[in-house]
Amino acid sequence: MKKITIAIDGYSSTGKSTIAKQLAKALSYVYVDTGAMYRAVTLYAMRNGFVNEAKSDIVGLVKSLPQINLKFIYNDSLGFAEMFLNEENVEREIRTMEVSRLVSKVATIEEVRKKLVLIQKAMGLEKGIVMDGRDIGTVVFPNAELKIFMTASPEKRATRRYKELLEKGEDIDYEDVLKNVEHRDYIDVHRAISPLKKAEDAINFDNSDMGLEEQFNRVLGYAKRVIAEQKKDVQ
Ligand code: DC
Repeated sequence: MKKITIAIDGYSSTGKSTIAKQLAKALSYVYVDTGAMYRAVTLYAMRNGFVNEAKSDIVGLVKSLPQINLKFIYNDSLGFAEMFLNEENVEREIRTMEVSRLVSKVATIEEVRKKLVLIQKAMGLEKGIVMDGRDIGTVVFPNAELKIFMTASPEKRATRRYKELLEKGEDIDYEDVLKNVEHRDYIDVHRAISPLKKAEDAINFDNSDMGLEEQFNRVLGYAKRVIAEQKKDVQ
């Protein structure tokens, strides 16, 4: 069966990665979480003193980019690939609030985006991929056969994220999570390079009032339809 490329973009905490992961599994496709890559670069930048709340040494970080090696390694028991930064599994470290607060800043740096987009394009050469992020349908795979743009109200997204962080044992305040969601929206949408925006040919998918099962069934339905259309084109 002919494989397609699926691009899932949208605001932070819209549940993109949950749906993208399930979709990849159902189709036996590769799943790539590009947010994890920006988070891993941010973790590197934090650890090496290039960014904190007060300052950012963009020149220093850009000079160090060749030293940053990113790899996804599939974890059989988890059922998805984990993020490795210079051979270290950083899957947990990249999900903290501290990284979340600084990642949008790092993601505005042109050289960082260039490096990551190159890696992402290479991962998609053979299709059969579900990639989620902010610029997948617009920049990384403008020719993706299926593009989905996920949205939900900031309050719904903050509530979901708040619950997730609580479950992970983080000591966190709902208002801080909401502020972080709104702040990241603002930076993601207003940055000069590859801002978050819906590709013209993407399906707008507002999941504010949808459960996970309904979202998954709908998205799988779109994918099956596009895959069936590809088959017709080949015949
Ligand atoms: O999907 P996420 O919340 O883990 O992404 C973390 C940050 O990375 C987000 O604030 C914006 C940035 N990002 C990006 O600029 N481009 C992408 N393709 C993916 C993420």
